[in-house]
Formats: sequence, C-alpha cells, structure tokens
Amino acid sequence: MSSLALVRNPLLILLTCFFLLAAAQEGSRNVHVGDVLHADNRNLTWQSPSGDFEFGFRRAPDQQDRFFLAIWFANIPEKTIVWSANGDNPVETESRVELTSNGLVLTAPSGMELWWSNSTQDGTGGVSHAAMLDTGNFVITGRNSENIWESFQNPTDTILPGQELGLDSILSSAISETSYKKGRFQLRFTSESLVLNQIDVITGKPLQFYFNITDVSRLIFNKSGYILIRKSSGSLVEIAPENTVPNQDSYYKATLGFDGVFTLYSHSKISYGDATWASWWYRPKDICSSFVGIEALGSGPCGYNSICQSNQDGRATCRCPYGFSVLDAKNPLFGCRPNYQSKPEDCDEEGFTIGEDRFEFNTMQFADWPFSDYELLQPVNETECSRSCLIDCICAVAILEAPELNNGTGRCWKKKLPLSKGWFNQEQINRKAFIKVLKSGESPLSPPNPNPSEKRQNQVNLILSVLLGTSAFFNIFTLAVISLFLFCFYQRKLKDLNGIHGKGEIETNLRCFTYKELEDATKGFKEELGKGAFGTVYKGELSRNYVAVKKLEKVFQCGKKEFKTEVKVIGHTRHQNLVRLLGYCNEDENRLLVYELMQNGSLASFLFGFLRPSWKQRLQIASGIARGLTYLHEECSTQIIHL
Ligand SMILES: *[C@@H]1O[C@H](CO)[C@@H](O)[C@H](O)[C@H]1NC(C)=O
Ligand SMILES: *[C@@H]1O[C@H](CO)[C@@H](O)[C@H](O)[C@H]1NC(C)=O
Ligand SMILES: *[C@@H]1O[C@H](CO)[C@@H](O)[C@H](O)[C@H]1NC(C)=O
Ligand SMILES: *[C@@H]1O[C@H](CO)[C@@H](O)[C@H](O)[C@H]1NC(C)=O
Ligand SMILES: *[C@@H]1O[C@H](CO)[C@@H](O)[C@H](O)[C@H]1NC(C)=O
Ligand SMILES: *[C@@H]1O[C@H](CO)[C@@H](O)[C@H](O)[C@H]1NC(C)=O
Repeated sequence: MSSLALVRNPLLILLTCFFLLAAAQEGSRNVHVGDVLHADNRNLTWQSPSGDFEFGFRRAPDQQDRFFLAIWFANIPEKTIVWSANGDNPVETESRVELTSNGLVLTAPSGMELWWSNSTQDGTGGVSHAAMLDTGNFVITGRNSENIWESFQNPTDTILPGQELGLDSILSSAISETSYKKGRFQLRFTSESLVLNQIDVITGKPLQFYFNITDVSRLIFNKSGYILIRKSSGSLVEIAPENTVPNQDSYYKATLGFDGVFTLYSHSKISYGDATWASWWYRPKDICSSFVGIEALGSGPCGYNSICQSNQDGRATCRCPYGFSVLDAKNPLFGCRPNYQSKPEDCDEEGFTIGEDRFEFNTMQFADWPFSDYELLQPVNETECSRSCLIDCICAVAILEAPELNNGTGRCWKKKLPLSKGWFNQEQINRKAFIKVLKSGESPLSPPNPNPSEKRQNQVNLILSVLLGTSAFFNIFTLAVISLFLFCFYQRKLKDLNGIHGKGEIETNLRCFTYKELEDATKGFKEELGKGAFGTVYKGELSRNYVAVKKLEKVFQCGKKEFKTEVKVIGHTRHQNLVRLLGYCNEDENRLLVYELMQNGSLASFLFGFLRPSWKQRLQIASGIARGLTYLHEECSTQIIHL
C-alpha cells in the first residue's frame, strides 16, 4: 500500500495496523488435529487472523434447524458465503466437524460421516494442522508442511483474489439467490477451453454452453482483483475489469450467479451500513440472448416456457408469460408451466383445435422464443397469424414480425411447447407474441367418448356434410345436394309415378331447357366449378341470374323415363337447407340439371380453408345439414333416402 494512500485516508492507516497485528498472530490461529466445531447456537468459528473470513456452520436459509459448513466474509454485514461443503445437504443440529489426522470430517449426531475433505495423502501419514487464511482459503497442511487440501482447490460458486481455476476445478452456481444448493450452471475447463454451460439437473451432464473461450489453460484471479486468463501459449491476458481499476481497500469476489452470469464484485472494506457488493464486470453480456453454440436445444437461462430479461448488471430476471405459472416459486429458473395445456380432446383428427372459441390471445410486445418454431408463414398479416395459431391445436404461441419490418412481408412463426430460450428486449426484439390461453371461465373439454359407434357416426356426418354441403347460414355453393344418383325411391311411389306420368314432359314448376340454351348459358361449358363422381358442374348465367349446371356423365345415366321421374321428385322438394333445382335438360343423350348457385364457394373450402369457421359456426352448419336430411328422409311428400 502506498504512503500516498495512507495519508489520504486515516481509516486506511488503522486498517493497515490491524493487518500487521493480525499477521503477527497468524501462528496462533492454527486449527489442530482434534479441534471440533458444533452445529449449534454457540456459533463458534475458526477465524482468519485478520478476522476477514470465518470457517464454521451457517444456518440453511430455508431450513432454520439445518446447517452447512461454510466460509464467509466475516467483516461485512451480509456475511457473504464464499464456499460451502454441503450446501446440497444441510446437516441437523449437533452435527460436528473435526480436524482429524486424515483431514476434515463432518459427522451427524448419529456418528455417520456426511462429508470429508478428500485430502491427498502425501505418504508422511496425515495432517499436521489447518488454518483459515486471510485470503479466504482454508488449508490443511500435512506433516511435510505441504498443503494437502485447500478450499481454493474445491470451489463452489465463488473465487477470491489469489484463487485460480484450472482443469481440475469447476465453479457451480447455486440454485437461487438465497440457497446454496447446486444450481444449473458451470464454469469449467475442457481441455484447452473455458466454457460456461448449463447442466442437466438429473444427470449433471453438460448441456448447451453460453461461451467457449478457446486456447486457455487457466483463469487467474490475482491478488489485486484482476481476472486474467493464461493462454495455451503461456501468455497472460487481462480480461476484467475492462476499464476501471478496482479500489485497493475493497474486498473482491467473482461469483457464478444462480442465473449463469459470472460477475466480478467489490465491496468496500469499511462498512458504512449501506455498502453492498457492486458489480464491476460480468459475462456473458446478456445471458438472455446468449445462444452461442446455437444448438437450438435447451431451456435457456430461465427454464422452459419463461421469459428472460437482463438488467443493467447483466443479471437475468425470469418471468412467466401471462397464462403460465412458475413451477417453483423459490426457484424462478425452473421455468413455467402453462395453466392450460392442450389435451387430446382439444384436437380433431387433423390436428385442428376443437372449440377454438374457448381460447383467446394475450399479446406481448418485444418478446420472442427463437427456438421453438415448427412453422413459418409468410406473407401474413396479424389476423392471419393469430387465427392460424388459434385453429392449430399444437400451436402455443405465434410470433409476428410486422410487414413493414421485412420489406412488406409479414412473418409469423408458430411455436409449440415447451417454449425455450424466451427473452424480452425492447431494443432488439421488434416482434409481437400471441400467447394462446384458455378464456377465463372456460373449462377444458371432457375426454372423448371412446364408444366406437359414436365415432363412426361423426365420420358419417362429416362425409354427409361435405357431400350435402348445404347451409342457409353461409350461402355456400354446393356441388350436389340432391343428385339423381344419391336417391332411391320407395318402390310403390315409383310405380305410382310411372303409372300416372308415363308420357310427356315433367309436370312441375321446373323449367325444361334445351341443350343449346344451357350451352349458351355456360358459354360452352367454360367455367368449371367442380367435379363429382357423377358429373361436372359449370357456372352459367340465365336471365342475369347465376346458376350451377350439372352435366351428368353418360356412364351413369339412367333411361330417359327414370330421369324424368327422378327430376320430378326432386322438383317437389323445397327446403331452406337444400339447394333448389331450377330446371333440367333431357334432350337426346344429354342429361343436365340446373341448380341455384351458392356463390361463396364450396362448404369444403369454407371448412378447410385458411380462416376456418369457429366451433359455433360449424355446429350451425351441422344442424343445418341435419335439418335438410330430416326433410328429405321424413318430411317431404316423396321420401328420399340420401345415401
Ligand atoms: C447464533 O446465531 C443465531 C442466529 O444466527 C442467534 O440467534 C444466536 O443468538 C447466536 N448465538 C450466539 C451465542 O451468539
Ligand atoms: C478423492 O481424491 C482422489 C485422488 O485425488 C480421487 O481419485 C477421488 O475421485 C476423489 N474422491 C472424491 C469423492 O472427490
Ligand atoms: C469449445 O470450442 C473448441 C474449439 O472450437 C471445441 O474444441 C470445444 O469442443 C468447445 N467446447 C464445447 C464445450 O463445446
Ligand atoms: C494483477 O494484474 C494486473 C493487470 O495485469 C496487474 O497490473 C497487477 O500487478 C497484478 N497484481 C498482482 C498482485 O499480480
Ligand atoms: C388479413 O388477410 C386476410 C386474408 O388475406 C384479409 O381477409 C384480412 O382483411 C387481412 N386483415 C388485415 C387487418 O389486413
Ligand atoms: C427490400 O426490397 C428492396 C427492393 O425490392 C431490395 O433492394 C432490398 O434489398 C430488400 N431488403 C430486404 C431486407 O430484403
């Protein structure tokens, strides 16, 4: 320490004297073989000579009757923990730690050994003494005066000035701000690179990494508070802090935070009461968008289905989007679960949402989940984007990029669960998320009836609805509501009719057209509307009204007489859910039927088109079809069976 500093700050002089005193006493601070600390209310510790660090038991923050063995900054109000032996398994009261001739041993009141320092045996047979040093390093010294165990060699989530990380050491984050359980991030060396990665909590295996600094062999936190890396070539490169030189009368630590951010902190040694750890430098710069190693796999820093937002210190704030809840309120990084997740009964055979009226969207600006896509639609507008997600029962979220941001081509990414790597950034994300949620008050559908006959019935209805395609509600054109070949007649009726109208033209209000008339009306059968099994339908115009003209295939044609009879029967039907037959042509070999034209397209295109009808509309269609069928089967004067 320079004399200049001493003159400028009288407090520093005091501190320096204290240091000298402490140093003089170091020898007397040794821990001897046989020394014991108890996990109890006496709070006894092994202190470093300066009193800066203490080794002993600390109460577990979430379990007051449990303790763990730790090292902490003793001279600041926070008593910040820098190392722990058993953060994952706090021990009960009256557990004890003893320095034995084999090293430190932590035993439960029952005598069971719970943890021991894995001291390298140096051949001389055991421990001489141990000491809590002023650097924050707890060392066990062997009989040959070599250190056989150091807390610096076995770090948890923090390193201190003087400490180094090499191939043999790993920093593991804690699970949350207040817990010392092992968390989800690791800072470690793999051969020649320094890697920050997430781990699989079940197996502890590394998952995706956030950064990978290659050609380095060591991370050095030097005694002046600088972080340097030793390149494979041997040269030293200073990496932190970038600009500001740390103040010498501060404590330093570098911690791998529970959110995966590796941060260099300083804390004034002289506490004025409100002093806390200040962040000097951190990596990655923005953990929420650090998708290095871009394997699209993995949850991202905040867990699945959540949204990550970084603050000025680079620390992540994890939130659940609307419609999702935290899995574990104590551990925001565990992610979120949807309050309602699509169930099998929400999807029809083709994967469309059943009852989409039950769902709605919550929108969120500046948010994205860049790696959960399964579809990209373009060009689209906002309505199409959200609608497409609504009717798709897999879709959980749609992300829209407005057309003006992409040369007039709007883009829409459809995402499925689980959503991964969600992030929020007002500067960098110019997109809008549509999050599909169950409307409040809506309840899930009950599971489908496994009765197979019911299913068959549904299929029949579907086929009928496509075939019939009638709906007064939507004015839909249909190919053939009542087509000759779809009917049979009750034999008696048929005979009656044949008997009565054996000859001449059909006696109904149906108009009889010549082939030439219909050829002109359809401009020579130019505009084809559709093709069925029995014939082709063309668009035509008769006295300024559009009509659909169905030209029956010769193969399917019955005799002239049967045709007449059948047309007559159809001509007598009139129902709002059936397309009206206006006339016919029965000339030579030509058999044609003239229907009113429903101009809004086929039912199929309405049902299966892009903007699919709602559940309610489809119910209306189905009941319209059923009414039409009931009329044909039971209510009209000549009963007709639709096959
Ligand atoms: C030990 O610490 C606890 C709280 O951490 C406190 O309540 C208790 O009074 C302390 N015991 C002694 C002997 O100081
Ligand atoms: C203890 O140390 C030895 C040698 O250093 C090593 O092989 C062993 O895996 C370590 N055991 C544990 C539990 O760390
Ligand atoms: C880091 O990068 C190096 C060089 O590209 C590569 O060999 C190594 O496997 C990477 N580490 C991880 C964890 O992917
Ligand atoms: C720590 O590193 C900085 C930057 O390289 C250097 O200026 C300083 O002297 C080093 N301190 C020690 C104690 O080595
Ligand atoms: C979106 O596109 C659909 C179909 O292309 C169109 O019907 C609708 O009017 C458009 N909506 C807006 C808001 O532009
Ligand atoms: C947008 O369109 C213009 C003209 O078609 C083209 O020059 C430009 O490169 C396009 N920009 C992008 C981002 O595609």
